[in-house]
Amino acid sequence: MNLLLQPISNSIGQQIISIDSNSIFQLAQEEIISLFKSYGVLLFRGFETNTEIFTEFSNLLSTDFMDYSGGAFNRRIIKNDKTVLSVNDFNFEIKLHGEMYYQKNVPLMLWFFCANPAAEKGETIVCDGRQLFNELSNSTKELFSNKKLKFTVPMNEEAWQQKYKIDNLNQLQEICRHNDIKLTIYEDKSILTEYISPAIIPSRCRKYRVFINSLLPAKQLYSNLIRFEDDSEISEEVMSEVNEIAERITTEIAWQKGDILMIDNTRVLHGRRAFSDEKREIYIRLCAPAFAF
Ligand SMILES: [Fe+2]
Repeated sequence: MNLLLQPISNSIGQQIISIDSNSIFQLAQEEIISLFKSYGVLLFRGFETNTEIFTEFSNLLSTDFMDYSGGAFNRRIIKNDKTVLSVNDFNFEIKLHGEMYYQKNVPLMLWFFCANPAAEKGETIVCDGRQLFNELSNSTKELFSNKKLKFTVPMNEEAWQQKYKIDNLNQLQEICRHNDIKLTIYEDKSILTEYISPAIIPSRCRKYRVFINSLLPAKQLYSNLIRFEDDSEISEEVMSEVNEIAERITTEIAWQKGDILMIDNTRVLHGRRAFSDEKREIYIRLCAPAFAF
């Protein structure tokens, strides 16, 4: 097979490029697993792909697929498979984040598939959470190590039914219990959820610290819903420091039709640039690796 291996950027990732449109199933799984463990993000480009091949290929390497219950955005189900979702709820920028770090049940691994790239812009962005941690000032490292993040979300009945994909309060209580979410239920069946999440986690090898969480988009989109766990404000000064570093170490992935992206959601943050092309179509799958990692 005629393959080219090269970094995604100077700072992150590896691309596996097929020169003559090979079948992606010809790749040796052990090789993919070993590259994934080293780099945390892999881009497969130039292979013969479509939605079915994407699904089958990701099925081979992953397990515990999630349906995005509890997710923050509206996502469209693709081809009746609740584990293949379109990410185009709207078209503005989404800042770097770990997927679903506003609840305990976090997907350890993500897959993206480019069914159709935007005519321009709409890049998916990635950065290394270990590098992001390392570049923080000492005082900010200390602040986020000492104080966790608190997400507080008020929802009416229709909103929580849609978000958690359920229709009754017993199911909701069960989900919240599983996710360590503090749930308050009001008489009109509206609710308030509170979840406390660390901003920094140990790397899987336990040797490093990784800044990975949902802070940046939460502040960007729902600024009043996020504070420190002691209810103190996360200051503008701290936010501009994190935003400045995140932007500086961001790698953009300019999609080509048929690209497949594999991300370790315990160490690599992702987001996307704004776009205006309505035909941009990127799918996501949330899961865990089907191998030891
Ligand atoms: Fe995301």
